[in-house]
Amino acid sequence: MQIIKTVKELRPIIQGWRREGLSVGLVPTMGYLHAGHKSLIVKAVSENDRVVVSDFVNPTQFGANEDLSTYPRDLERDAAVCEEAGAALIFHPEPEEMYFPDNCTFVDMDSLTKGLCGKTRPTHFRGVCTVVSKLFHIVTPDRAYFGQKDAQQLAVIRRMVRDLNFGISIVGCPIVREPDGLAMSSRNAYLNAEERKAALILHKSLAIGEKMLGDGERDAAKVREAIEKSLGTEPLAKVDYVELVDAETLEPVGRVERPILAALAVYIGKTRLIDNFTFAENAGCDKGETGCI
Ligand code: PAJ
Repeated sequence: MQIIKTVKELRPIIQGWRREGLSVGLVPTMGYLHAGHKSLIVKAVSENDRVVVSDFVNPTQFGANEDLSTYPRDLERDAAVCEEAGAALIFHPEPEEMYFPDNCTFVDMDSLTKGLCGKTRPTHFRGVCTVVSKLFHIVTPDRAYFGQKDAQQLAVIRRMVRDLNFGISIVGCPIVREPDGLAMSSRNAYLNAEERKAALILHKSLAIGEKMLGDGERDAAKVREAIEKSLGTEPLAKVDYVELVDAETLEPVGRVERPILAALAVYIGKTRLIDNFTFAENAGCDKGETGCI
């Protein structure tokens, strides 16, 4: 497995694969890889001849007061995870390689980026869309893999690929959880022992909402209130948002009649964590995907 740091070195490698008629999968990440990331890489390896993992803490998707400088990094460990999962190459550029000092071109999106995480992180998805567009142009993959963990991001990328005719298949992958239910996240590394315990309230509260929907409740407000009430029992938790939205448009719903996304963001101490589940009336909740009870 190769670790490549520049676009100039990467392009001929991809072109070589293309000449051999090989398919290419891309797994964009910000590194500090865990089993959630690994599941994306393993899936990509099963569906493509060559898999590129990008490992880049993208500055443009962090707000001024967010954790860009403290975001955890460990390239050596990331390389071991990628190698074990069967990736062909890690693309690990420096910020200067990805952004010219006078960069003034961005990819932005209306509607889907305004609610949920977009409310507290108004410039976040502009950064995500920009860096993912750049990665798509640099790697030119056939398929790209994203986790349902970041459900809004997945919906945004799907829409961007549709609207801008990228011609890349976007593959969504289920949330991977710790044995006790906490969704895996690089940011879990910020939690101390007490906060780690408190963080379980996210999954526990979502499971209450999932059970209500499974039992036939269709009033979105009632489900949202029950989730909020459960979150309120944990003193270390401060709710950013709890929303039930249409799974495709991300518009809030009154009644649960189409596939919906129930998503939340909660501060545990200083750490902002997100989690979600999807629910479709006929399909119910996918137990494998969401670990619902
Ligand atoms: P990052 O947070 O490193 O996540 C990389 C990919 O791994 C995303 O698609 C995310 O949804 C997925 N992922 C993270 N935790 C997961 C889990 N527990 N189960 C399943 N998948 C999980 O998301 C980003 O980086 C960035 O915004 C990026 C798309 C790379 C653009 O910079």
